[in-house]
Amino acid sequence: MKKILVTGALGQIGSELVMKMRGIYGSENVIATDLRKLEGSPVVTTGPFEILDVTDHEAMLHLAKKYEIDTLVHLAALLSATAEAKPLLAWNINMGGLVNALEVAREVKCKFFTPSSIGAFGPSTPKDNTPQDTIQRPTTMYGVNKVAGELLCDYYYKKFGVDTRGVRFPGLISYEVLPGGGTTDYAVDIYYEALKSGKYTSFIASGTKMDMMYMPDAISAIINLLEADASKLIHRNAFNIAAMSFEPEEIAAEIKKHMPEFIMDYNVDPIRQGIADSWPNSMDSTCAKNEWGFVAEYDLAKMTTDMLQKLRAKGIGAK
Ligand code: NAD
Ligand code: SER
Repeated sequence: MKKILVTGALGQIGSELVMKMRGIYGSENVIATDLRKLEGSPVVTTGPFEILDVTDHEAMLHLAKKYEIDTLVHLAALLSATAEAKPLLAWNINMGGLVNALEVAREVKCKFFTPSSIGAFGPSTPKDNTPQDTIQRPTTMYGVNKVAGELLCDYYYKKFGVDTRGVRFPGLISYEVLPGGGTTDYAVDIYYEALKSGKYTSFIASGTKMDMMYMPDAISAIINLLEADASKLIHRNAFNIAAMSFEPEEIAAEIKKHMPEFIMDYNVDPIRQGIADSWPNSMDSTCAKNEWGFVAEYDLAKMTTDMLQKLRAKGIGAK
């Protein structure tokens, strides 16, 4: 990979992926793009940055040619809760943006990565140790978009030979940029509120297990899959990858080990709870491990120690 263009680069994943990739491939070689520009962000100040609306195919093709890219990482999308509130907008951005990005990858003959999600599964999917290849009948607009996206990426590989790759991310937990409207956001919010006020009101109900992953493992997964030997990839797109699975009381208990005074109560949001209830408890990552060596370094305990330390270093909760 010599010239990489990233869409949705100011989001939760993009802000960390761009900085990591600039460190590996060179600052000038990672072109960050987003619908908006955040003036002080290192994504904007440390290398090329361009405004790009992914629903504009001509603008994306123009940038791909201008920078002579050989890799396109497509991240721009609406997440599950936002997509459920604005389903038609989600269809237009999530599907319109993806087909534009795949077309650009076909036109300039570049490698392609886009993430799917645990949201690609639904209530009829086996909940525990969810297999790589299984029933996918999601009941959310986000899930419909993700399943269609997985199939579209497979189609562009088979029909046009585009080197498409992707993973199904679980909920991602990070300290650089806040998540952008997902169902798993509670597992990030809880750390901020623990430090700010010593208490947290969870919008996800007690007993609701979901797969989660710490951002450093997610960033490594993207880079490792993009660098993987293509001849070893049987699935290519939508690899299940998981690091830990927990319910709200388990993350609260882990925080309590560091902050014994921390307390959590519940005010369940029926929309996000309904989405969470339709998702798996824990996915089986065997295919990702076997085909390209996926590993996760962080479990709940190691992540909690690091999250609290990094947020304190940012001044979160300081009086
Ligand atoms: P995010 O919401 O944090 O960031 C998305 C970015 O896309 C934002 O910076 C936004 O400004 C930009 N954007 C929105 N509409 C756009 C448009 N029309 N044109 C260009 N940019 C636009 O999202 P994220 O968490 O970084 O997620 C990135 C991808 O990863 C998405 O496909 C998401 O479904 C997937 N994913 C994320 C998670 C997670 O927990 N964060 C989990 C599974 C999958
Ligand atoms: N974290 C994401 C969401 O909740 C999972 O795709 O939408």
